[in-house]
Amino acid sequence: MSTEATFSRGLEGVIAAESALTYIDGQKGILAYLGIPIEELAEHSTFEETAFLLLHKRLPTRPELQKFTEDLASHRPLPAPIVELLKALPQQAPPMALLRTTISALGHFDPTADDVSLGTLHQKAVQLISQLATLTAAIGRLRRAQEIIPPDPTLPHSANFLYMLTGKRPSAEAARVFDVLLILQADHEFPASTFASLVVASTLSDVYSAISAALGALKGPLHGGASEQVIRMILEIGDPAKAEPYIKERLARRERIMGFGHRVYKTYDPRARILKEYVQKLALQAGDTRLVEIEQIVEKVVIDALGAKGIFPNVDFYSGTVCYYLGIEPELLTPIFAISRITGWMAHILEYLEDNRLFRPTTRYIGPPLRHYIPIDQR
Ligand code: SDX
Repeated sequence: MSTEATFSRGLEGVIAAESALTYIDGQKGILAYLGIPIEELAEHSTFEETAFLLLHKRLPTRPELQKFTEDLASHRPLPAPIVELLKALPQQAPPMALLRTTISALGHFDPTADDVSLGTLHQKAVQLISQLATLTAAIGRLRRAQEIIPPDPTLPHSANFLYMLTGKRPSAEAARVFDVLLILQADHEFPASTFASLVVASTLSDVYSAISAALGALKGPLHGGASEQVIRMILEIGDPAKAEPYIKERLARRERIMGFGHRVYKTYDPRARILKEYVQKLALQAGDTRLVEIEQIVEKVVIDALGAKGIFPNVDFYSGTVCYYLGIEPELLTPIFAISRITGWMAHILEYLEDNRLFRPTTRYIGPPLRHYIPIDQR
């Protein structure tokens, strides 16, 4: 039995498990997957290779990467009834809610849904990484009242996603930028969504239940839902000259500025630093630097006001602008976060179930002392 555990609101600073997957130094702004700095993975790796790294805890050989890539491509198609279900659901429902519903429904078409043996979970990881992308693209198409585009098995993961979403094969550069976004968001230790998936997985419930829980957590505006709010804010500001007064007014009202602050990072989120470079490149190529100018003013005003409290841009501050320049609407930003983070969720489930222990924290009781029941006529 543990001694009197310390109480920490929101489990801040509490170590809930041991993991070899992701290292974060929140003071120095370091993020590494299996010890490899995110900057090096963003520069040299691909999403497929990074997904293999996280799922298998090592970089693949060339034949392994080839097979993994083929496996991913072969698992992209959705069961026909799931496509019909998507078409039957309200097309303008929040995409994260549609993703949560359809991932849960996918389990009905998986005869081994309740099998949580490690070998089977590795197969399900490949299946879910691919099918979440296909689902997200389909949701995007239906929102625009467009026909769903089936996956193209000859395209790499990111290029295929953009193709299914837009109907056009993306440029090598656009596919590369999107691939880097997926690499950057693939894992992040124990955020609320990963922890939610592990609480469910630790009961030995099925993976569809665990991922549905993760999707529910990621949907929240304090977590993955922030990226959509950021780009909407930037578009609402619209004019660089309005950026400073807009932010100062919201700070004066002690409102939270989405895309800033982090439970772990008390300095610049290294992912935001990388995405900022891509945004600047994309803006110059688009010949429209207005959004970037607004973001840089917003960033300066917020850091001037809150930097001393350790509040800096997080990954969500620039991810929305990257997607904006790729022609992706704000509503799909959190699902795009999910199609990357499914990798981390599955990697942590695989790792945790190797030495599973049911999550069951406790509370510090502050209710009334033990006492007797009072019959209703005496109350
Ligand atoms: C993600 O955990 C992860 O790893 C998540 C993630 C991942 O990869 O999975 O990195 C992805 O979710 C990034 C975060 C996206 N969320 C947002 O951008 C929403 C805005 N951010 C804040 O709500 C907040 O910073 C959190 C929720 C992210 C973290 O909050 P904490 O650690 O619970 O900090 P807090 O709410 O206790 O805030 C501490 C102080 C407060 O001021 P005081 O009451 O002490 O005076 O900082 C202030 C807060 O008001 N503050 C902010 C702020 N964030 C914190 N003030 C203005 N704007 C903000 N964004």
